[in-house]
Amino acid sequence: LIGRAFQSKFVIPKFSEFSSYIDKMYWSCVSQKNGKVADYIPQLARFSPDLWGVALCTVDGQRHSIGDSDKPFCLQSCVKPLVYATAVSELGDKTVHKYVGTEPSGRSFNEIALNKYNQPFNPMINSGAILLCSLIKPEDHQSDRFDHILKVLKAAAGDDFVGFSNTTFLSEKATSYRNFALAYYLKENQCFPPKTDLMEALDLYLQHCSVDITCESGAIIAATLANGGVCPLTGELVFHPDAVQHTLSLMHSCGMYDYSGQFAFQVGLPAKSGVSGGIMLVVPSVMGIMCWSPPLDSTGNSVRGLHFCKELVSTFNFHHY
Ligand code: DON
Repeated sequence: LIGRAFQSKFVIPKFSEFSSYIDKMYWSCVSQKNGKVADYIPQLARFSPDLWGVALCTVDGQRHSIGDSDKPFCLQSCVKPLVYATAVSELGDKTVHKYVGTEPSGRSFNEIALNKYNQPFNPMINSGAILLCSLIKPEDHQSDRFDHILKVLKAAAGDDFVGFSNTTFLSEKATSYRNFALAYYLKENQCFPPKTDLMEALDLYLQHCSVDITCESGAIIAATLANGGVCPLTGELVFHPDAVQHTLSLMHSCGMYDYSGQFAFQVGLPAKSGVSGGIMLVVPSVMGIMCWSPPLDSTGNSVRGLHFCKELVSTFNFHHY
């Protein structure tokens, strides 16, 4: 880092100038007051609609954050690309895609549906994510399987904050009728590997949703994806570069619920949103960004987070095309 600083070789050379633009965009989003905080579990319903944080980390480890960027919130669906990247890194894409597709579903994230090959459409929707939970280290004890993902996430975050909310997990489990239905539907259609313990896969899925991060740690995780799988802060190879390429492709096509096509059109960057109000945005080879603001629009994306992503590409030429 210091060597690069002396040679002015940072990927964003005028970082403080860049950061002041980020701050301006942050403040321009504060007036976005519409949207509704998710209320299907108390842990999400209790979030103030005013919470709003943004953090970024470049591929060479420069960091900036503003607002509520150090407050923990649960990853929810933002964990899906990370579990997928883990599965592909460890098992290879051929094995993973024997079980899950790569096509946007064109349906809601929790719809009970399979593609023509009898697979979940992609790993960014609930059925695909539940299926992935049956693939990663199935021979290990359930506690070790969760511990394993937690270790991967901590490594991706360069040992910054990654926690677990047991209350979120318990609430998720108590209200997850649709996910239970999805898991049984997958079982009925023989989508899982034969020896899969359905309840264990489901528990793991709900535990993944209940992992806590902050915008600051989330930005480092996103930067690890932007950096081909190498954490910019530690230099550790966390995800295989091929797995990162596949992950970013699927975030690009399927990461923003039923807004994924419009988001790809307008923003042109891989992203994943979650019901807690997080949007993990990746500018490949440049930086990772984590936005968090709980009020969601009608498609389930954070209103302020979405506005911020659009502002970003209207100010800087990060749109890929
Ligand atoms: O599994 C669920 O339905 C909730 N935990 C919501 C996850 C989420 O963020 C929506 N996902 N695509």
